[in-house]
Amino acid sequence: MDTTLTTVGKSQLPRIGIGTFGSDTYGAENVSDAVALALRAGYRLFDCASVYGNEDRIGQVFAEAIGEGVCRREDMFVISKVWNDMHGEGQVLRSIEKSLSDLGLGYVDAYFLHWPFPNYHAPGCGGDERNPDSVPFSTGRFMAAWRQIEEATDRGLARYAGMSNMTIPKLEAVLPLCRVRPALIEMELHPAFQQPGLFDYCVARGIQPVGFCPIGSPARPTRDRAPGDIVDTEMPEIVKIAEAHGIHPALVCLKWSAQRGALPIPFSVKEPQIIANLASVYEDPLTDEEMRAIGAADRDCRLVKGQVFLWEGARGWEDLWDLDGTIAGSAL
Ligand SMILES: NC(=O)c1ccc[n+]([C@@H]2O[C@H](COP(=O)([O-])OP(=O)(O)OC[C@H]3O[C@@H](n4cnc5c(N)ncnc54)[C@H](OP(=O)(O)O)[C@@H]3O)[C@@H](O)[C@H]2O)c1
Repeated sequence: MDTTLTTVGKSQLPRIGIGTFGSDTYGAENVSDAVALALRAGYRLFDCASVYGNEDRIGQVFAEAIGEGVCRREDMFVISKVWNDMHGEGQVLRSIEKSLSDLGLGYVDAYFLHWPFPNYHAPGCGGDERNPDSVPFSTGRFMAAWRQIEEATDRGLARYAGMSNMTIPKLEAVLPLCRVRPALIEMELHPAFQQPGLFDYCVARGIQPVGFCPIGSPARPTRDRAPGDIVDTEMPEIVKIAEAHGIHPALVCLKWSAQRGALPIPFSVKEPQIIANLASVYEDPLTDEEMRAIGAADRDCRLVKGQVFLWEGARGWEDLWDLDGTIAGSAL
């Protein structure tokens, strides 16, 4: 079984990883238990972040697995991310050092800027909460944080650099300024929200898309739920294909994502789901016709709208995503 798909730099990445955000529902221990199950099931890519509040427990799980010979460090691909309240001078480097200490690692494989704004919301906050200190995107502020990620790669603290929650206009603004370009970009990707423009933009530039919420995040926090949100696993196109393969619709979402080349990072605490999710991308592939049917089923339904990061004067969550092709509230 070929267990690799993508070449990033000199690295071969698995076709799938496991997420570690408990969605404000699963505590740190639930998540680290899931990572332990995933390691033993054969997962080697782990999508971590300081804001998930569980890197110290995940670090214990990594140490145990490596110590017991379950896997070697060099066979793992560990992602971590700097949270929005740590973009200031020196803070990004302090944040990666803290994540490395918590994860018990000498380096992460990729270090991401989690959001392109320094706008903070408290863990577990409600959807209507706003931080009065929030500011619109600024190329200068972004690059000041990115320079520290570049330094982290220079110092060997991270092998690759990554961005997350970006748009094409923002990438157009920052990519020409990057000394170290992002090797990976994390974005929301599932059948009801395929982001073909951003996806193709990244692929065309040799940047690996990493797809978050690949199953449509059925357990997502209340702040990320809105009337009219599509449930991917109930989409008729997905259900029909699931029935044809005799599998859960969630697995159709993952097969489609991996076959598209998106590197999905589904989360689950349930062992049968953890095992089935991994196997799904290595067996019983979707046909070209099924891939086309899902490709045509896009509903442009963003789930993580991010409204808690809005600044005073912003019109609505759409301003975070540059829908008209210009950066809303942009400042140099
Ligand atoms: N960069 C970012 O800003 C960002 C944002 C969001 C997420 N992420 C990352 O992406 C990861 C995944 O996102 P997510 O957890 O929100 O969404 P997701 O992976 O689409 O959905 C996870 C949920 O799907 C259900 N599930 C998983 N496998 C299943 C299966 N085989 N059959 C049926 N149901 C299944 C589980 O629900 P139950 O719990 O009800 O079983 C699980 O909680 C996160 O953990 C995080 O690492 C990154």
